[in-house]
Amino acid sequence: RGLVVAIDGPSGSGKSSVSRAVARRLGTAYLDTGAMYRAATWWCLEERVDLADQAAVAAAVDVMPLVMGIDPAAPSVHVDGTDVGEAIRTTEISTAVSAVATNLAVRAELRRLQRALIAAESSASSADAADTSFSGGRGIVAEGRDITTVVAPDADVRILLTASEEARLARRSLEVHGAADAAAVEATRDQVLRRDRDDSTVSQFHVAADGVVTVDSSDLDFEQTIQAVLDVVEQ
Ligand code: CDP
Repeated sequence: RGLVVAIDGPSGSGKSSVSRAVARRLGTAYLDTGAMYRAATWWCLEERVDLADQAAVAAAVDVMPLVMGIDPAAPSVHVDGTDVGEAIRTTEISTAVSAVATNLAVRAELRRLQRALIAAESSASSADAADTSFSGGRGIVAEGRDITTVVAPDADVRILLTASEEARLARRSLEVHGAADAAAVEATRDQVLRRDRDDSTVSQFHVAADGVVTVDSSDLDFEQTIQAVLDVVEQ
């Protein structure tokens, strides 16, 4: 059976880059569930759906032709054949994503897709020996806001990756502005904290749920954080 590792955490905790690196080292698949909410947001904007219209957003996401590439060496997101890997990382999407992610019908649909992807990777390998692509059974590292609690509460390993607000803002500022000086951090603050607050209304990812191991990355660099997560996996 393939190993299932669930990792949750707030913005700037490093969960995407750390989860991806952990998946590469473990030789498992990698699922970025945040990218799915971002893709749903991109699709709604593309289809000119009014994000305030909950029913219209849900209907659009229901028919979204989403394909998640879950190879950690080259994760990808395609919607209707378009590679949206870069388009979903813009400030426009980051600003709008919570409105879509707090739509409960959207969450139900994306969770269904997430569980199917996780199930395919956790079940005994169905891979054809001649098929070198990711076709199931290799295990998976899945990360997001509600993976340890709702999507995969029975995962083999469940981790909450946290970091102090200061560390999270500095990291996100470096990612978005290429700098972590006072001005850049300030420009990041409102966006990150508002999104955290909005996301918190539907997912609880600031405190570890029962049985979830907390890894605090505030004082760890990238490599040390990967090691700390691998230590929990190997426990
Ligand atoms: O940019 P950051 O790493 O903080 O976030 P992300 O992982 O790319 O997720 C983007 C957004 O998707 C979050 O702000 C949430 O609104 C939503 N999300 C969610 O609701 N549930 C998840 N399991 C993952 C992401």
